[in-house]
Amino acid sequence: MEDKREKLKSFFYKIKECQECELHEGRTRFVFGSGNAAAELMFVGEAPGKNEDLQGLPFVGRAGKILDDLLGSIGMNRKEVFIANVLKCRPPDNRDPKIDEINTCKEYLFEQINTIDPLVICTLGKYSTQLILDTSHGITGLRGKVFHRDGRTILPINHPAAVLYNPSRIEILQKDFLRIKDILGSGNKAEPAPVETHEDEENDSEKDNKDDDSRQLGLF
Ligand code: URA
Repeated sequence: MEDKREKLKSFFYKIKECQECELHEGRTRFVFGSGNAAAELMFVGEAPGKNEDLQGLPFVGRAGKILDDLLGSIGMNRKEVFIANVLKCRPPDNRDPKIDEINTCKEYLFEQINTIDPLVICTLGKYSTQLILDTSHGITGLRGKVFHRDGRTILPINHPAAVLYNPSRIEILQKDFLRIKDILGSGNKAEPAPVETHEDEENDSEKDNKDDDSRQLGLF
C-alpha cells in the first residue's frame, strides 16, 4: 500500500510538467488523477474540463458531482477509489481527444493502472472504453457488459456528463453502479491512506507549488 502510494507519487513528479503534446500549452494544471493508490476500483474518464484544469483534480465539476452521488448510492466515496482520465490535460473548449493525444498520453494511464493494480476498472464513456478494451466499438453496445483483461474486470458505463444532456440517463448509471457493487462484493473496501505533508524550509513560491502538489497528491 505504502509502496504503491510512493510509486504513484514519484510518477506524478516525473510526468507533471509533461510537454509531449500541444495540450500542455493551454493547461493551467496537469490532472494526474486522485484517490487511493491501493484502490480495488478505478474509474477512467475522458479528459479534464475547465474546473479540473483549474483545480488539478479529476471530476470536480458538474459531472464530478454526479459521480460522487453515484458512488454515494452504493455506499462508497472517492477516497476509496482512484479516478483518472485518458488525457491529463484539458483539450481546448473541451473538444474531443485526438487520436495522437490519446496515443501520447495513454502510457501514463497504463503505468497508473499497473501501479494501482485495481481489481475492477470502470470506464466512463467512449474514449476510455475504447482505449482500455482496445476496440473501436461504440459505448452503446459495450455499456453494462463485463470484460476481462489482464486479470482485471472491466465494466464500461456511460460518462456521467451524459446525464447533464439527458437526465433520464441517470437510471442506467444507477443500475450500472449497482453492478459495480455486485462485482466488488460487500465489505470489500480499501482503507484511504493517511495524508503526509512536508513543510520544512521552503520559500514561498516553492511552498505554493508544493501546496498545489499536495492537493493533487492529498488522497494518495
Ligand atoms: N470529464 C472527464 O472525463 N474527466 C474529468 O475529469 C471531468 C469531466
